[in-house]
Amino acid sequence: MINQLQTIQKECLEAIKNCQSLADVEKVRVEFLGRKGKLPILLKQIVGLSDDQKKEIGQKSNQVKQDLEKNLNNKIAELEKESIEEELKNEWIDVTQPSLNPQKEGHLHPLTQVQKTVEDIFISMGFMVLDGPELESEYYNFEALNIPSWHPARDIQDTFYVKSQKSLKSKVTMDVGKENTNRLLMRTHTSPVQVRTMQKYGAPLRSIFPGRVFRNEATDACHDHTFYQVEGLMVDEDISVANLIATMQTLLKEIFEKDVKVRLRPGYFPFVEPGFEVDLSCVFCNGKGCRICSNTGWIEFSGAGMVHPNVLKAGGVDPEKYSGFAFGFGITRLVMMKYGIDDIRLLLNGDLRFLRQF
Ligand code: DAH
Repeated sequence: MINQLQTIQKECLEAIKNCQSLADVEKVRVEFLGRKGKLPILLKQIVGLSDDQKKEIGQKSNQVKQDLEKNLNNKIAELEKESIEEELKNEWIDVTQPSLNPQKEGHLHPLTQVQKTVEDIFISMGFMVLDGPELESEYYNFEALNIPSWHPARDIQDTFYVKSQKSLKSKVTMDVGKENTNRLLMRTHTSPVQVRTMQKYGAPLRSIFPGRVFRNEATDACHDHTFYQVEGLMVDEDISVANLIATMQTLLKEIFEKDVKVRLRPGYFPFVEPGFEVDLSCVFCNGKGCRICSNTGWIEFSGAGMVHPNVLKAGGVDPEKYSGFAFGFGITRLVMMKYGIDDIRLLLNGDLRFLRQF
């Protein structure tokens, strides 16, 4: 029986050595050590032996069993390690490979892109970039800007007044200016931030105020009830129209990445004196005349002027000592010009087919 035990041991070790997979190992275990395996079947013959022989065979068979189990376990460990290494070798990830189905990347809205460009240009000229409230008081939107109560800009047609003044005022913690003109409205332009800024920072001062403005108008390809403006203000001693022209020229040259001519025409805005309309030479035909500039060679760009003494006073700045220029233009228009967009409503209607082109 000892011989038979040794034969089984030898056969089994040989079989373990030849195992290629965990399934093979299991097969060998069942074949030799399982309930109907070679070793248990052999041991059944132990009944017919003497006590001494039983003892000897019993000990020997235990040794064989332990030895085989140890070898089976080692083989299992070895095969598992191999399979992990195999997996690591085959399933490596190339983190530099571009995705086959890339997510569409978002980007800034064209209005934001142009606004950021404008901000950068002014920051490089030493201007601050400041915000003002979109919900504004009648005082800052009109009164402080020297827009008297009879001015047509105050017409209910143009301005969105806020109905529930009482409930809003309790929620809005903002300085609405003089008590008697503190009705709330959606600002119709960014000019009110001029006065707020002078009150806060005093003179000298250079700042721009980009932001959203609102007008109660019927919408069409050229008009929207909501659009974006950039207001600018420079206050110091001895500021003149020359500073205004130089600033406009620098801005436009940077935006359009070429030399553009700037022209001032007289214009009326209650908060500046003198007031101007600033035109730029048509960027499409270089001033030769085309459909876009109605064959004039010029495109209207901005309102501007020298800050009215009443406005400086409202801002707490001494008009005897300081002067300043101000301007206000539409970024919406600028974006339309830059990209040749012919309908203003495309910009804010959120249509991704349009926006993805930028
Ligand atoms: N606030 C004017 C508007 O919305 C634009 C404007 C004109 C702003 C002249 C200015 C300025 O600062 O000086 O039409």
